[in-house]
Amino acid sequence: MIKPHGSDALNPLYVADSDRRNTLMVEAETLPSLILSSAAAANAVMLGGGYFNPLTGYMNLADAMSVSEKMHTVDGLFFPVPIINLTTESNVEAGTRVALRDPNVEGNPVLAVMQVEAVEDVSEEQMHFMAEKIFRTLDPEHPGVANFLSMGHTLLSGPIQVLSYSYFQTDFPDTFRTAVEIRKEIAEHGWEKVVAFQTRNPMHRAHEELCRMAMDQLDADGVLIHMLLGKLKPGDIPADVRDASIRKMVEVYFPPNTVMVTGYGFDMLYAGPREAVLHAVFRQNCGCTHLIVGRDHAGVGDYYGGFDAQTIFDEDVPTGALELEVFKADHTAYSTKLDRVIMMKDAPEGHTMEDFVLLSGTKVREMLGRGEAPPPEFSRPEVAKILSDYYQSLDS
Ligand code: ADX
Repeated sequence: MIKPHGSDALNPLYVADSDRRNTLMVEAETLPSLILSSAAAANAVMLGGGYFNPLTGYMNLADAMSVSEKMHTVDGLFFPVPIINLTTESNVEAGTRVALRDPNVEGNPVLAVMQVEAVEDVSEEQMHFMAEKIFRTLDPEHPGVANFLSMGHTLLSGPIQVLSYSYFQTDFPDTFRTAVEIRKEIAEHGWEKVVAFQTRNPMHRAHEELCRMAMDQLDADGVLIHMLLGKLKPGDIPADVRDASIRKMVEVYFPPNTVMVTGYGFDMLYAGPREAVLHAVFRQNCGCTHLIVGRDHAGVGDYYGGFDAQTIFDEDVPTGALELEVFKADHTAYSTKLDRVIMMKDAPEGHTMEDFVLLSGTKVREMLGRGEAPPPEFSRPEVAKILSDYYQSLDS
């Protein structure tokens, strides 16, 4: 099986041994507490599950700046975005142990224990430098930038021991999986070549077909549909509705035992190209050999060019930094002329844009909200029904 990023074996930071976990829980109750930002909590969940292998905790300022600037740490480890714990609290001391508490669960239970190695002030200039490198913009309207710049100017770094997977295991028991579990399941299937499909949206015909095209063209053994289960910007479809619609699509339209439907506990960054590279790193950690990167991957608004998330792999990811390969997908849509979904680059001569069924997200939302199903060329009726029920429940 493909090796994890940066090490021969996966090193998840979740304390799997229940006795040790209980001991740490007891210790945590005696430690000073810090309520994490949602982003730092999501980082802990990802570190816990082995997704951010080979990191052992939160990065310090030198690493965060270096990773932001050139996608590697001071020691030369390739990593696409800083994995950090920024806070507004200023009373944590270096050299102490701290109980990191979950901002997303009532009562703020302990999520992890941290050995604080450094407490560093991040200047406004350094915050802007990092944000600009990660998001390619400093526009405060960009949801990722706004969130990044609101987390505080104190950076706590050091190793962590993770004690919980936050709300993800309880809210999404059938879907939330750690990288460790996904590797294990891939091995149990006996799959070698596995294509990952990242998503934060329901899957329409184009997405479904992208999975099939990648499967066929790469002669892969299976597809990992891997959805984000954390926070999204307002207006995005909630994870449970998306999960139900994806499961239905897989059940009806894919042969059994060819697709794994899973999810990971992370908040969306909306960092386009940089987030695509992060997606590649953690899919390699899951045991996937390929990642589909299509149009405006992890994008928002008009901040990124349609295929910037593909070119970053050619221009900025050093050769050999990743073992996983990217399956680049062109804009894909249903052709009424050919009666099937195709990538636009594969359209035959004489085929025009008018021959494609193209609907904007806004248009689809409007239709579903009115109880109208989008055309079957765009959306499977079973998927449309689940989404339409959701949109109509919003009005009642
Ligand atoms: S993302 O933020 O998780 O990337 P989304 O769930 O919309 O958003 O997309 C999932 C994947 O499908 C991404 O790789 C994206 O680039 C790709 N994709 C979505 N729609 C299309 C399309 N019509 N043509 C080509 N690729 C697409």
